[in-house]
Amino acid sequence: MDLFVPHVNCNADPEWAKYKAQIEEAVEKFKNEHPEDAQDGDGIITDYHYNVKNKITPDYKQPVYKAIYSAIIWTARGFHKDYRRLKIKDLWFQETSGPVYHPAHTHGPLGLSGVLYVNYDCEIHKGTRLISPQLHPFDGTHIDEEPWVEEGNALIFPSYLMHEQLPSFSDKKRLIVAFNLHYEE
Ligand SMILES: [Fe+2]
Repeated sequence: MDLFVPHVNCNADPEWAKYKAQIEEAVEKFKNEHPEDAQDGDGIITDYHYNVKNKITPDYKQPVYKAIYSAIIWTARGFHKDYRRLKIKDLWFQETSGPVYHPAHTHGPLGLSGVLYVNYDCEIHKGTRLISPQLHPFDGTHIDEEPWVEEGNALIFPSYLMHEQLPSFSDKKRLIVAFNLHYEE
């Protein structure tokens, strides 16, 4: 019986160091220019609310697209779709440290969502826990999976999938970029 939680987990692009520098530069610029907008009430530092309010796509869209390019190709291929039509629709960064975490949530019935691990220490930080909407058919327990990721990895999964980020309890910052994808017919 197949109990897997659907996802694609791609290794870092060979040019990752370049894309990382470009993304981090844009994130620091946003934090300097919009220090109050960058704070959400739960301790997460993010441009999510600013982007939604102002209907903007952040400056780091291009390096993110290049960094997740292989993941997009493998995801589209899995559905026999044209990878060139799978585009980034929504994009935001999330910086956390210490006890800060992102509780379980979904992105709704949008299609596909994902995470790019921009500044991430796999010895310290937690990845992303994916939780299946289906319970285990034998004992009724939750079916979940926390794919092992390292910096530069791109994780793509169905937007309906419940997911969460557990706290690291470390002062070392964890920076990820989250995104939704849209298939242009
Ligand atoms: Fe999310």
